[in-house]
Amino acid sequence: MNPPAFRLQDLRRIYQEGDTRRAALDGLSLDIERGSFVAVVGASGSGKSTLLAVLGALDRGYEGRVEVLGQDLARLDERALGRLRNATLGFVFQSFHLLPHLTVLDNVASPALFADEPFDAAQAALLALRQVGLEDRALDRPQHLSGGQRQRVALARALLRSPPILLCDEPTGNLDSRTGAEVIALLERLHQEHQRTVIVVTHEERLAQRAQRRIALEDGRVKEDSGAA
Ligand SMILES: Nc1ncnc2c1ncn2[C@@H]1O[C@H](COP(=O)(O)OP(=O)(O)OP(=O)(O)O)[C@@H](O)[C@H]1O
Ligand SMILES: [Mg+2]
Repeated sequence: MNPPAFRLQDLRRIYQEGDTRRAALDGLSLDIERGSFVAVVGASGSGKSTLLAVLGALDRGYEGRVEVLGQDLARLDERALGRLRNATLGFVFQSFHLLPHLTVLDNVASPALFADEPFDAAQAALLALRQVGLEDRALDRPQHLSGGQRQRVALARALLRSPPILLCDEPTGNLDSRTGAEVIALLERLHQEHQRTVIVVTHEERLAQRAQRRIALEDGRVKEDSGAA
């Protein structure tokens, strides 16, 4: 048995505001194969970030069923979820979320603070920085880096535990065209190198075109799904 990276069955995410219930995700059923590179596109408010947060086990307020590598998220306790977030899933956000008072190295190593088993975070952080080509900036502060370099640091942090799955929400959204292209090339390499599953939410056509599959959302539903296995 070789379960897919993700299996969604009738996934819904309802937000209640006063008397109104709004479905940010309105019945998604799909598989995402391991090792695939998937772009999630759609207008603002269509549910892209909501979907990523559910896939990343950050948002548990959903209905329906979500499996990550064959594990039903609803059946995992906090400890098992923590392990999943730490070792299986890597996150990258549009606005980097780096801590300014920490060095680049410590930023990359910071998820280890939440690890429940000991491991050599400094060593792993250096290795991750090497993968994004920023080993020589390890002792610098994030504010001394360019936008593209900051996003590479955020990617290194996501890679700390070598997760098989990378989830990226608008990873090039704050970057100019040239630095955006660098980050796109890096994502492609990270996908190919270890047959990682990469899911990117993006408005950028250039990035979406690199993906093997494009899932377009509209009002919390799948409007189009092209290139699915
Ligand atoms: N915490 C929340 N409380 C209430 N409604 C929310 C919350 N988060 C998201 N929503 C609603 O869910 C819908 C989908 O939001 P989501 O952030 O997933 O959109 P998106 O596709 O990522 O948009 P964007 O491209 O602007 O980032 C929107 O209507 C939004 O207002
Ligand atoms: Mg969003």
